[in-house]
Amino acid sequence: MQSDTTSATPALELSRVVKSFGAVVALRSGSLRLHDGSIHALIGENGAGKSTLVKIIAGLYRRDGGEFRLRGEEVDFHSTAQSKANGIAVIYQEPTLFPDLSVVENIFMGRQPTGRLGRIDRAAMRAEATEIFDRLGVSIDPDRPTDGLSIADQQIIEIAKAISLDASVLVMDEPTAALSGVEVDRLFSVARSLRDEGRALVFISHRFDEVFDLCDTVTVMRDGAHVDTMPIAETTVDDMVRMMVGRDVTEMFPKLPAEIGEEVLAVDGLTQPGVFHDVSFTVHAGEIVGLAGLVGAGRSEVARAVFGVDPYREGTVHVGGAPLPKGRPRAAMARGLALVPEDRRRQGLVLDLPVTRNITLAVRDRLARFGLIWGSRENESARVWASRLEVKTAALDTESGTLSGGNQQKVVLGKWLATDPKVLIVDEPTRGIDVGTKAEVHRLLSQLAQQGIAILMISSELPEVLGMADRVLVMREGRLTGEFKREQATPEAVMLAATADEEPAR
Ligand SMILES: Nc1ncnc2c1ncn2[C@@H]1O[C@H](COP(=O)(O)OP(=O)(O)OP(=O)(O)O)[C@@H](O)[C@H]1O
Ligand SMILES: [Mg+2]
Repeated sequence: MQSDTTSATPALELSRVVKSFGAVVALRSGSLRLHDGSIHALIGENGAGKSTLVKIIAGLYRRDGGEFRLRGEEVDFHSTAQSKANGIAVIYQEPTLFPDLSVVENIFMGRQPTGRLGRIDRAAMRAEATEIFDRLGVSIDPDRPTDGLSIADQQIIEIAKAISLDASVLVMDEPTAALSGVEVDRLFSVARSLRDEGRALVFISHRFDEVFDLCDTVTVMRDGAHVDTMPIAETTVDDMVRMMVGRDVTEMFPKLPAEIGEEVLAVDGLTQPGVFHDVSFTVHAGEIVGLAGLVGAGRSEVARAVFGVDPYREGTVHVGGAPLPKGRPRAAMARGLALVPEDRRRQGLVLDLPVTRNITLAVRDRLARFGLIWGSRENESARVWASRLEVKTAALDTESGTLSGGNQQKVVLGKWLATDPKVLIVDEPTRGIDVGTKAEVHRLLSQLAQQGIAILMISSELPEVLGMADRVLVMREGRLTGEFKREQATPEAVMLAATADEEPAR
């Protein structure tokens, strides 16, 4: 961190950076100026170029043009090792740990401290890891493999890595997308203490509340270019939204009136010991039922059990009045159930397949019934959904892995909507999706309900649940602890049901 330049010299500065991938211009004019002791928000719609900018900082991509200075000196990183050696640590949108290696090995990856005889000093590594974890207030066994750790813990390990590198610039690309409230608080307090030590931090998020809570400065990007940079104190959510999308987003929750018809999904007494207990609810045609609760309340597990990808010991699931067999997702799909999962990377998307194929993945059996796949029909169906969801990609045969994070999420949504479901279960449907598209996804869900689809929407975002649902169910610690009609569902009532300590009245 030594430098003889004045403190006014930015820790890092990118000006008018350009980056293309073939015909795709990911960055037209990316600019970012970071100062020591600051937490800088970087915001913009899906595909605006945020992650690309970050990957140039990380040395993962090389810029095609523009300037990149580190403490006043022009740099051009050819590798991530070079970026690291210059005190830059990046936590990517997707965790990049090696699952088979231990926590310690991951933290010290590629730079194991050696003892006097040149041997790897495991004790020293373990001691340092433990010390960092203590400082972060977490208890993770340094010797365990990283496989099976929660995303929150994986991120803590990435941060531990950054701290052990003594990075002076720390970039976090949507670190909170998969974290619970407590985990976000822990991350933020770590971020603040790193800032107070004089480091420069970048924080990418689609959540304005977080940006206001944590950051002091904000840079807005749109279509691969810098729009503006200003102190957080001098801006509002409306200003930011206008700069991000270039227009006003008037209606965030465009809930349309829908005719609520007959019962389509009926779940009765669903129990899986230690996971969820005696969960009963119904969803009617045309109805949006919101399932609220804290992360870890068991909502996703219930959804997965209903769909048949997870087991349950007791209870029944009926679709259209007929029982649905346990543990058979194919049968569930045949009966018109669709589940858009929470973890798109692991459960939703095949990254090296083209966008087209991902969208039609769940209907390919149908398309290929006679051993033939109708390429034109496949493309047609994919095109319809890609355009309805505004998937931003140069071409539909692009590998899905090169799409921006939010656009990958839209592809997963499209894949399930293409199955033309009767019951649609969506788990955190707008996580990682920008404001403009969020409103689009909400409008779409509303339209689907209007067409008579029964929708169960799991969401940790209270405004989303309250804005969209006809009825709100609340889960806490594996049990249903509240049910509210739309008119009764106040933020206070739902939060109380989600967090109250005492046993609920039964
Ligand atoms: N390796 C790549 N090959 C081809 N196109 C790419 C590649 N990486 C990024 N892109 C394209 O560049 C554009 C910017 O993507 P980027 O990931 O930087 O967006 P983002 O602002 O991080 O979006 P999100 O909020 O969805 O994460 C997108 O259109 C994306 O498809
Ligand atoms: Mg991104």
